[in-house]
Amino acid sequence: MKIALYGFMGAGKTSLGKALAERLNYNFIDLDNEIQDFELSDINQIFENYGETGFRKIEHKILKNIVEKAGENTILSLGGGAILQPMNRKILQLTGFKKMYLNVDIKVLIQRLKNDKNKRPLLKNINDTKFDQYVTALYESRREAYNKYADMEIIIHQEDFETVLERLYLHFNFN
Ligand code: S3P
Repeated sequence: MKIALYGFMGAGKTSLGKALAERLNYNFIDLDNEIQDFELSDINQIFENYGETGFRKIEHKILKNIVEKAGENTILSLGGGAILQPMNRKILQLTGFKKMYLNVDIKVLIQRLKNDKNKRPLLKNINDTKFDQYVTALYESRREAYNKYADMEIIIHQEDFETVLERLYLHFNFN
């Protein structure tokens, strides 16, 4: 099976994707890491150099390259905005990837992102007093789309990492 994990920033796409791939003995690819390796700079720097529009073009190019080469038994973690681009959804579909949504409670996301905002260009300049409001608004603006594009969905509240991993694993074995 080829699976693309998506969801809001802070949902755990990379860490869960990696752990799940290890457990299933699948290949694991992280789109943002591939972008950084290709550009030889980090996501913040890419946003600074080319803006979000430039980043989205690079993101699509690298995604296309990855999915066209990916074998069966691949887990691919996407960045939080990738699934919102129609071209990206199309190439995922054409290459046989199923889209799995990690739907994490907004309160949990805010808490995680507060501690980890500096590596995220969309959040690093938001000051603490406006942070919750800003993240909630961005989340709300994406919520409907995130729901709509899911072939599979895992709803996550306060469960710890191992519990969520187990649920993902069971989901694979029984679907
Ligand atoms: C983005 C999410 C980031 C990264 C970029 C844009 C987004 O990935 O791709 O900063 O638009 O939600 P993570 O979801 O892994 O933080």
